[in-house]
Amino acid sequence: MYKIIDGKAISEQVKTEIAAEVKAMVAAGKRAPHLAVIIVGHDGGSETYVAHKVKSCEQVGFKSSKLAFEADITEDALLHEIDKLNKDPELDGFIVQLPIPKHISEQKVIEAIDFRKDVDGFHPVNVGRMSIGLPCYVSATPSGILELLKRYNIPTAGKNCVVIGRSNIVGKPVASLMMQKGYPGDATVTVCHSRSHNLKEICLAADIIIAALGKPEFLTADMVKEGATIIDVGTTRVPTSDTKSGYRLCGDVKFDEVAPKCAYITPVPGGVGPMTIVSLLKNTLLAAKGEIY
Ligand code: GUN
Repeated sequence: MYKIIDGKAISEQVKTEIAAEVKAMVAAGKRAPHLAVIIVGHDGGSETYVAHKVKSCEQVGFKSSKLAFEADITEDALLHEIDKLNKDPELDGFIVQLPIPKHISEQKVIEAIDFRKDVDGFHPVNVGRMSIGLPCYVSATPSGILELLKRYNIPTAGKNCVVIGRSNIVGKPVASLMMQKGYPGDATVTVCHSRSHNLKEICLAADIIIAALGKPEFLTADMVKEGATIIDVGTTRVPTSDTKSGYRLCGDVKFDEVAPKCAYITPVPGGVGPMTIVSLLKNTLLAAKGEIY
């Protein structure tokens, strides 16, 4: 019988741990960690994610600031706001929620953030340091995935780990982390993407599959070995009349047919998703403690 990796429960557990640390910090006379979130425009998904991030800050005793700008803000004006946050001594870390409007360069924005406050771990300094195993802010989704593997004691050393998807936010960093020395890591990693040949054969040899390509129900039972561990990073919004919001979240894994073959599997929702916010909180706590830089 397969085991569900309960990201919701683990995320609550980690939040409780963070809250206890914050309480101790404040009791010792320090100020609470402070995270700021910049949001540009009115993307529905982004507004929901940002609301969750702000609420999670409250839950663990962080101070949070939300800076909302209209979609027509100029690139210069946004870069100026980022500069102000870089220089704010009362702020430990901040993020710019992506995507941003097309007339603003995402890369310019990411590189404008002081890497010492880049709790998203998107700045090239943090990405580079992560890839060579130096202390840094690791981006939220990869870090959440590793935390789940760790909390469920899932063995990774010498295992075949197949990552499907090569995005800068998930595929590339999680592949890099899974091959690093130590636990969770030491895996033999293969990265597959839209141009890969023999995807099915490669997946069938996998002990761990991390599906992060953003195609609903892409991974089917015929691609999965008995006893594999499946991590589903997909969060596609599929229209439905069954929910109040008018959509449901759909993972990259055809859960009902894949689950019976697995040792462990993450559900969507309630798997990787809740862990990403917790990873952001952890990075902000590290920033407040000055433990990375
Ligand atoms: N958009 C989707 N995921 C993320 C994330 O982890 N950070 C930011 N800043 N934007 C996102």
